[in-house]
Amino acid sequence: MKYNFDEEVNRLGTNSVKWDNCKQIFGRDDIIPMWVADTDFKAPGEVIEGIKKRADHGIFGYTYRADSFNQSIKSWLKKRHGWEIDKEWITFSPGIVPALSLCVNTFTNPGDKVIIQTPIYPPFRSVVEGNGRTIIDNELSYEGNSYHMDLDNLKRQITDHNGEFDYRVKMILLCSPHNPTGRVWRIEELIELGKICTEHNIIIVSDEIHSDIVYKNHKHIPIASLSEEVANSTITCISPSKSFSLAGLATSAIIIPNKKMRSLFNNALETSHIGGGNIFGNIALEEAYNNGEEWLDELLIYLEGNLDYTINYFNEKIPQIKPIRSEGTYLVWLDCSKLGLKGSELMNFFTNKARVGVNPGNNFSRKNTDFVRLNIGCTKKTLNEALKRIEKAVKEMILQ
Ligand SMILES: Cc1ncc(COP(=O)(O)O)c(C=O)c1O
Repeated sequence: MKYNFDEEVNRLGTNSVKWDNCKQIFGRDDIIPMWVADTDFKAPGEVIEGIKKRADHGIFGYTYRADSFNQSIKSWLKKRHGWEIDKEWITFSPGIVPALSLCVNTFTNPGDKVIIQTPIYPPFRSVVEGNGRTIIDNELSYEGNSYHMDLDNLKRQITDHNGEFDYRVKMILLCSPHNPTGRVWRIEELIELGKICTEHNIIIVSDEIHSDIVYKNHKHIPIASLSEEVANSTITCISPSKSFSLAGLATSAIIIPNKKMRSLFNNALETSHIGGGNIFGNIALEEAYNNGEEWLDELLIYLEGNLDYTINYFNEKIPQIKPIRSEGTYLVWLDCSKLGLKGSELMNFFTNKARVGVNPGNNFSRKNTDFVRLNIGCTKKTLNEALKRIEKAVKEMILQ
């Protein structure tokens, strides 16, 4: 391997949400943080050099995004995901969550219904409810050891009591690949979902922030790449932030083929004055997409090694916890139902007995009180230490 992902980088003292906030989040600072979706790897050298070079210039006045910014996104989507886009479809958001919120506000009205598929990354719920819209929860089905879209149930949920389409259903927030289950949606699921949405003029907002972290034998398909019809109803949100350790640079790209929708989105960006972006984020995105491919390919090998290690570790040494094998993302959804602990008891176990910081399952779905989400985007050493701590805590609990 050309790149050394085993390098231990001390992130303490950098105002890292993941590392420096443990006391505030978990009530103690002696935990290994395996929670927020943020990795412990240094960004590719080209990104760091690009930022340093620009920093050396010393003047950081207003700048605009050059054509090269859009070109890097266009080339990346073509080479990594086989999706041919027009540069003019590309617009901007400082983050994906702000874009989701902007979409809800721009394309729906208070009281309208927005579909989400739980368990789901918590802001999907809060951007809908916080903006006074109503959730339709098209819960994923959990069969065996895997999650699937329940599209028959979705069809029922968007039908009113007269058997007619409920015209208040205006949008779906799709998470593709899916956080927290790590599912990479199959083409059949996406085609069927696209069909339902286009038939009923339901806007698809597809959060594809995790699309560059997909493991062997799986392929991410941008839903907008399925057909012109689906593309015309879809807003796709991407960012190099998760894959290239750039989340703090607050730079993402929003792709809207439909001219009218794009103009409405851009008006909303302008009205809230959040479309400017920042110099370093723009440079980082371009460097990552233009020069980061080899680095990313090696990162994927490293992460898949972490994933295999994690799955084997639980299966062999901690069978009381069942990991769902992620097909994409560096997040692992853990079914802890056999531990016999739920909600705050389960969190107390991970925080105070194992001393590993995880995300509680009930943040993703009110039902998943006996699940937690583990972030394996760290060095093998950190991962091994965390797994050992969990194993020890489980064994001690069983012996009690
Ligand atoms: C599915 C998903 N969307 C969005 C985000 C956050 O995106 P941003 O920081 O760009 O708002 C995350 C971060 O964990 C995520 O998992």
